[in-house]
Amino acid sequence: MSEARIGIIGGTGLYEMEGLTDRRWVRVRTPFGDPSDALLTGTLEGRPVVFLPRHGRGHRWLPGELNHRANIWALKKLGVAWILSVSAVGSLQGRYRPCDLVLVDQFVDRTKKGPEHTFFGRGIVAHVAFAHPVCEDLRRIVLAEARAAGVRVHDGGAYVCIEGPAFSTRAESLTHHRLGYDVVGMTNLGEARCAREAEIAYVTLAFVTDLDAWSEAHEHVTVQMVVSNLKRNAETARMLIRRVIPRIPTEPGCSCHQALEHAIMTERSLWPA
Ligand code: ADE
Repeated sequence: MSEARIGIIGGTGLYEMEGLTDRRWVRVRTPFGDPSDALLTGTLEGRPVVFLPRHGRGHRWLPGELNHRANIWALKKLGVAWILSVSAVGSLQGRYRPCDLVLVDQFVDRTKKGPEHTFFGRGIVAHVAFAHPVCEDLRRIVLAEARAAGVRVHDGGAYVCIEGPAFSTRAESLTHHRLGYDVVGMTNLGEARCAREAEIAYVTLAFVTDLDAWSEAHEHVTVQMVVSNLKRNAETARMLIRRVIPRIPTEPGCSCHQALEHAIMTERSLWPA
């Protein structure tokens, strides 16, 4: 069997992965519709990788329009066993500054999309364990490399996922701040859920672009503010990904890769052939 691949999902500002050799854009069809774009397969740091621009090249999909099931299905079909997911986020606490990296370990769902964030239903019932939604093995690798590279990185945090596309109101932002959440974004929770169900190890690289709207001492978030920090964040993400890739095991072996063991409740005789 060929070596399992490493998936990279590029967020806002990361639409291409430079340095890939043997590059090929591949279109993948899925039972859940089309992924955000074609997927770029290739080799990076000697390892087989697949890159997917989350919002499509040219930034064509709103967060609420993203088809996480199709994206994750396509990555799985191309043999991906680990996902490094890069994402722009707003800071909800003073300790997280623009261009910091937060390696979140929790998510809070404030979207309306729950039913679309599962491969199950319509005859097959499963409940995967999701108390720890991020792969701790993968997170530790990214953390160690970020520290070694001198990136301002935070170990852990709760990512509150809002529906968007509007940013939070000041009242919402203050609520998230007072509840002690760490960062706010619009995309990663659905991805993490689908990745877990697909038995893919998943980590979020949340790069801060702004201070959302909770602080009186700072300007409230606008697209211009987000965009002004994106370029630096994308450069850090590319550098870090190249350092992380050689550290990822070549064989799947963490608990994420067996997430469906004991999760499916429907009798096996009723599963589709
Ligand atoms: N992505 C980047 N900044 C954000 C913010 N403040 N709220 C939601 N998503 C974001």
